[in-house]
Amino acid sequence: MLPTYRRKSIVTCILFVLLEWCFGAVSGQLSYSVPEEVNPGTTVGNIAMDLNLNVQELESRMFQIVTGSKKKYFEVNLKTGFLYVRERIDREELCAKSPKCTINVEAVINNPLKLYQIEISVLDVNDNSPSFSEKSQTLEIAETTTLPGVRFPLHHATDADVGKNSINTYKLISNEYFSLAVHKGGEQGVSAELVLQKALDREKQSVMQLTLTAVDGGTPSKTGTSLIIIKVLDINDNIPVFSKPLYKTTVFENVVAGTTIVVLNATDIDEGLNSDIVYSLIKRDQSKILQLFEIDPNSGAIIVKGNIDFEENNAFEIRAQASDKGHPPMSAQCKVLVEVLDINDNKPEITVTSLLSPVKEDASIGTAIALVSVIDGDGGKNGMVNCAVSNKVPFKLESNYKNYYSLVVDGHLDRESAHEYNVTITATDEGTPPLSSTSVVTVHVSDVNDNAPRFPEPVINVYVIENSQIGAVIHTVSAFDPDLGDNARITYAIESSKSSPITSMININSDSGDIHSLQSFNYEEIKTFQFKVQATDSGVPPLSSNVTVNVFILDENDNSPAILAPYSEHGSVNTENIPYSAEAGYFVAKIRAVDADSGYNALLSYHISEPKGNNLFRIGTSSGEIRTKRRMSDNDLKTHPLVILVSDNGEPSLSATVSIDVVVVENTGDVKTQFRHVPIKEESFSDLNLYLLIAIVCVSVIFLLSLISFIAVKCHRTEGSLGRYSAPMITTHPDGSWSYSKSTQQYDVCFSSDTLKSDVVVFPAPFPPADAELISINGGDTFTRTQTLPSKEKVRNLNWTLKLDLFGFVILILHYYTS
Ligand SMILES: *[C@@H]1O[C@H](CO)[C@@H](O)[C@H](O)[C@H]1NC(C)=O
Ligand SMILES: *[C@@H]1O[C@H](CO)[C@@H](O)[C@H](O)[C@H]1NC(C)=O
Ligand SMILES: *[C@@H]1O[C@H](CO)[C@@H](O)[C@H](O)[C@H]1NC(C)=O
Repeated sequence: MLPTYRRKSIVTCILFVLLEWCFGAVSGQLSYSVPEEVNPGTTVGNIAMDLNLNVQELESRMFQIVTGSKKKYFEVNLKTGFLYVRERIDREELCAKSPKCTINVEAVINNPLKLYQIEISVLDVNDNSPSFSEKSQTLEIAETTTLPGVRFPLHHATDADVGKNSINTYKLISNEYFSLAVHKGGEQGVSAELVLQKALDREKQSVMQLTLTAVDGGTPSKTGTSLIIIKVLDINDNIPVFSKPLYKTTVFENVVAGTTIVVLNATDIDEGLNSDIVYSLIKRDQSKILQLFEIDPNSGAIIVKGNIDFEENNAFEIRAQASDKGHPPMSAQCKVLVEVLDINDNKPEITVTSLLSPVKEDASIGTAIALVSVIDGDGGKNGMVNCAVSNKVPFKLESNYKNYYSLVVDGHLDRESAHEYNVTITATDEGTPPLSSTSVVTVHVSDVNDNAPRFPEPVINVYVIENSQIGAVIHTVSAFDPDLGDNARITYAIESSKSSPITSMININSDSGDIHSLQSFNYEEIKTFQFKVQATDSGVPPLSSNVTVNVFILDENDNSPAILAPYSEHGSVNTENIPYSAEAGYFVAKIRAVDADSGYNALLSYHISEPKGNNLFRIGTSSGEIRTKRRMSDNDLKTHPLVILVSDNGEPSLSATVSIDVVVVENTGDVKTQFRHVPIKEESFSDLNLYLLIAIVCVSVIFLLSLISFIAVKCHRTEGSLGRYSAPMITTHPDGSWSYSKSTQQYDVCFSSDTLKSDVVVFPAPFPPADAELISINGGDTFTRTQTLPSKEKVRNLNWTLKLDLFGFVILILHYYTS
């Protein structure tokens, strides 16, 4: 069912067509319509009938179609009277865009000539598709900043068809960013605009392709498409991003400047300058970092430019920044943690704080004398230090805690052998390679009075010539004290018991040790004496030691020989008678003399000093016996005054003279008897001689005994220790053997009792002979052979001493035997 108003219009149309037809017939004008593009031959209308002409007449009346244009689209079938399409009709070609397209042709008929107007409407057919002049169109749209709702006009499509067959609408494949706004009824017909629905993101999609489709209103409709290329323009809307939020790296200290420790990498997903990164270090609060590091603005490499010292900083936190070159630029920051690795570049440092200086030499073991601390700037093993005393000294280090030590005494100190020590302290760390350092501490040792003064030898023998000047220095003792200062300042004193007479004989200078004699010694009175000198230092408490001084008085030839009775010295005249008949060698007299001196000073010799050239008498040089040289003759005088000179062997020699008048008598029975028997009679053992002998023996024995006792004391004292050279001593033993001693070693020179005399008498020099048997007496009955012989020099001394001591004795014995 059609609505009522539709029915009314259809009716109106039909009326109109009828009217038109009626008017045409009236005015000779016909109207037809034909769709374009119909096949040639297609009938448009029955023109003969519509002109009310007889079909048979058409041919005869020469009916024809006349057209103004070249193309003759229509023709009339003269047999049927139908107007038909002769050629393809393209409305678009004929009328282009005009909505009403008519072709006017004229029909002419003769007999009578008549002209008919025929108007043929060409009806449009949808034979054209919409089309775009360009295959694609490009839009450039900035990302982000282009807001949704912004419209972008699009190119139009065209459609040659008209009316409803032309472009009806546009379509876009749905997409999230864009929609299409289509406008109809404008001057340009249907147009379309792209509407941004959502901000673009170049970083997500930098180029988009959309297909725009234009659709006409034909049935069926036709379409044409165009590609919309949307280029998303970059906006600096992304910050650079570091590849890591936190960089960690390590670096050895002392690396050379220019070393790259880490390369930062930041990227910016923007484009072009917006993604060009420039690196920098943050300036704020990083002055230290900026001194030590720099960053390559292009590569992002962090480079060492200063000296990195672990001991100053063992880690760094570097803040860096990456900026792009957009406008405005965007930047990001990151942190770089740099751990500094230690290198063993610091020697241990030794600090010594002295506690005790100087150290007393009697300091006990363990006494702390200094504090030692060791510091090593390195860390870890490089900073672990071992510390010790590295040279051989009586000190050691004791660890207190960690790197603190005490230097303590570790041995006996003796200032006298070492007054200072250079203690070398070596500290070595445990790095690889290890570093070490040394410190030398000089420890001074102070003196303690631990040494008594020392005499070079325990016994000093001093030889003093008798009759020396009073006050003369007979010897200077000197002791040595290895201590220092007051501890070594020595004073000397004679050690004496109160009753001792020594103090009246000698005196000592307490400072210099000079021993002065207080009297002149007389060998004939005192031959030896002994005293002790004590040396004391000034330490607190003082120490002392003593030395035994043996003083031997040496004989001087200060006594002249003394003529013994019965003759008296020069001045009084003694007389002896001899018989005239006396034979040669007749004993006249014997002069006896003694000399209080000893040795050579007491070795007397006798000479006849007057008369000179005497040829009758001679005197035994040593015996003092006067004898005749020859028999008397008549020419000889009756009285012969003789002067006998007795002189000793001293230097200079002293002498005494005695005068004897020898009277030659004719008969001398008494005299002869008296004189002949003098030497062999018991008389020779006269009281005087005996007295003399005993006295001399006694003197010798006393002297020898004193020697024995002295040597005994000495041997006892020096037992086991070696003394120094001193004059040799002779000792007799109770069994009759003799011993010779030298203070360095005791040699017991043993002679059997019966060889004593002959050995003594014929003392060979050197003595004892090189091949003599030296045997030592141990405990009196064990005899062992000694290995070493005394040197010749010492043997001579021995010889001399023996001579000295025994000479008189021997002479006396000889004298005794010979007389
Ligand atoms: C930086 O990082 C990016 C992505 O992580 C990488 O492609 C590039 O090669 C890196 N650059 C350097 C110099 O390492
Ligand atoms: C200790 O060292 C000093 C200075 O080097 C030197 O003069 C002194 O002789 C040394 N002492 C010892 C006992 O080596
Ligand atoms: C003298 O020295 C000896 C041995 O050195 C010692 O025995 C003696 O007591 C000392 N005499 C004095 C009085 O000091």
